Amino acid sequence: MSDRIHTLSGYFHEYQKSVTEPEKFWARIADSFHWQKRWDQVLEWDFEGPDVKWFVNGKLNITESIFEKNLFTHGDRTAIIWEPNDPNEESRNITYKQLYKDVCQFANVLLSKGIQKGDRVIIYMPMIPEAAVAMLACARIGAIHSVVFAGFSASALADRIVDCEAKAILTSDGNFRGNKKIAVKAVVDEALEKSSVDTVIVCKRTGQDVIMKEGRDYWWSECLEGISTDHKAETVDSEDPLFILYTSGSTGKPKGVVHTTGGYMVYTKYSFENVFQYSPGDVYWCTADIGWITGHSYIVYGPLLAGATTLMFEGVPTFPDAGRFWAVIDKYKVNQFYTAPTAIRALQAHGTEPIEPYSLDSLKVLGSVGEPINEEAWRWYYTHIGKSRCPIVDTWWQTETGGIMVSPIAGITPTKPAYATLPLPGVQLCIVNADGKELTGNSVEGNLCIKFPWPSMIRTTWGDHDRCKQTYFSTYKGMYFTGDGVKRDHDGYYRILGRVDDVINVSGHRMGTAEVENAINEHPLVIESAVVGYPHEVKGQGIYAYVICDMTNRTEENLVNEIKDTVSKIIGPIAKPDKIQVVSGLPKTRSGKIMRRILRKVAEGVTENLGDTSTLLDPEVVKEIIDGRK
Ligand code: WTA
Repeated sequence: MSDRIHTLSGYFHEYQKSVTEPEKFWARIADSFHWQKRWDQVLEWDFEGPDVKWFVNGKLNITESIFEKNLFTHGDRTAIIWEPNDPNEESRNITYKQLYKDVCQFANVLLSKGIQKGDRVIIYMPMIPEAAVAMLACARIGAIHSVVFAGFSASALADRIVDCEAKAILTSDGNFRGNKKIAVKAVVDEALEKSSVDTVIVCKRTGQDVIMKEGRDYWWSECLEGISTDHKAETVDSEDPLFILYTSGSTGKPKGVVHTTGGYMVYTKYSFENVFQYSPGDVYWCTADIGWITGHSYIVYGPLLAGATTLMFEGVPTFPDAGRFWAVIDKYKVNQFYTAPTAIRALQAHGTEPIEPYSLDSLKVLGSVGEPINEEAWRWYYTHIGKSRCPIVDTWWQTETGGIMVSPIAGITPTKPAYATLPLPGVQLCIVNADGKELTGNSVEGNLCIKFPWPSMIRTTWGDHDRCKQTYFSTYKGMYFTGDGVKRDHDGYYRILGRVDDVINVSGHRMGTAEVENAINEHPLVIESAVVGYPHEVKGQGIYAYVICDMTNRTEENLVNEIKDTVSKIIGPIAKPDKIQVVSGLPKTRSGKIMRRILRKVAEGVTENLGDTSTLLDPEVVKEIIDGRK
């Protein structure tokens, strides 16, 4: 653990080194991993391309740094604690040795189904240990996994299968969530009506009826029969893709963010150990779903690379009651707890009574991720969960960054509510104004960019490199543009202000407004729509849709419900608009551009001083929109 930061001056010292001698800095950290062949050069980069390579020509398999490297020292340590949805069902404890066997065996299963290095494998699974086994087994054979959040619809799943030309899908019969049993395999079947794969492997979880297609669908447990638990890891290059993860942007369909192996490995472990100050023997719990980047980097890869005990929770925060998180923390004596502001706010709404039966005295560090945490939620979390003795690490990062970029180092960086505070070593932030001019010094506000490569950064968008360039590297020359607004205060601390593009953040889930509009427009009676975010007490942002539709023979209520169902079917329930307002027109400029600024303000409840409306084609429509606002 020589790469651990222990003091604030130590942090500043490391940060300085990472900027003045980045290659030396990262080489030192990378040296503690298992490489089959060491790299020739630490970094090669050009943000114009973009073309970024870390640990050039290094050969490795990421699972060897999790298993082979450590089995002698901590093979008997618990790797994964699994807490089921139903607290009365037995939990599971999987040691590193056992997980190693499971991963090797499933790697052999994948090979036996003809899946090879470089092939894409979709993982559409609930939060069960087999999902982690699936990811690691893909990595073990050099196949590229693409985990799709199991709440996405058949149509969204089909889009992803087609986009990455997946060869196989790993899934389950169903999923337990609270008191509901949700079909999973049936969604896969529906998706496969519009796409195709050679193989589907189905893990039995709920026992519900499923249809198995001969020659394509196999039961997970049957696949394991007679299969060896020995497997020699495939050799991959540092820059071979480890996974694709689809995420929403301001335009078009979700894009497949590609992460490669060497840099991602080095950065996720380094950031995990430092941000959370994880010590061997601690129990760490991140409540994210493996369908999101947080689950990839900070349930699976980061913690397992660090030899940590990582808790995986199948259920929801409010089942069987709003004390579930706190019950789980006490049950396993969780030391580091990492969740999202939306969950904190939802639980805050239940008051402190559900917390009272629990001591929570194992907690050492609290984390927050996914959206800006408001001051009130921060204080509630700090006082009632952390009992005013646990630092909160407010971690800012993105699917594209692969790992945490801005965050306090737990217990070391002095915190400030709603501030992500300071960049991690290796992260060179830059605030720019609308013209792309860097704003130096403190007390400035602008758009957040990153001007130097970091090891776990996005390398490309699957099948469309130009889209990666256009989206992230073209807005400001020579810089990665995050899409977030930011403020640097008088202390040099960073506060993330939220997206400045057409992305909204609903309960920590990223949604593109264009994506939601496209889904709404699929309803046959919808003529046009415009979607904006608005402040929502629990979700952070809610989805507000303005729609123009043909109302003949319809009531507004019917139509609104049908539109919500359409969105649910096309994207998933998480994208359902919270409010739908039927309008006769949208505020457009003479050139036909929708003035979203006005729509956003009205959705926020602002009805006066809407700014200049003189360029509007039909200023009257603004009045109608204000009068009919929801
Ligand atoms: C937002 C999640 C404020 C931000 C890891 C970013 C945050 C987007 C924070 C990425 C935070 C994430 N404070 N905003 N601590 N963490 N965000 O790709 O707008 O799902 O651009 O990655 O979430 O969301 P994504």
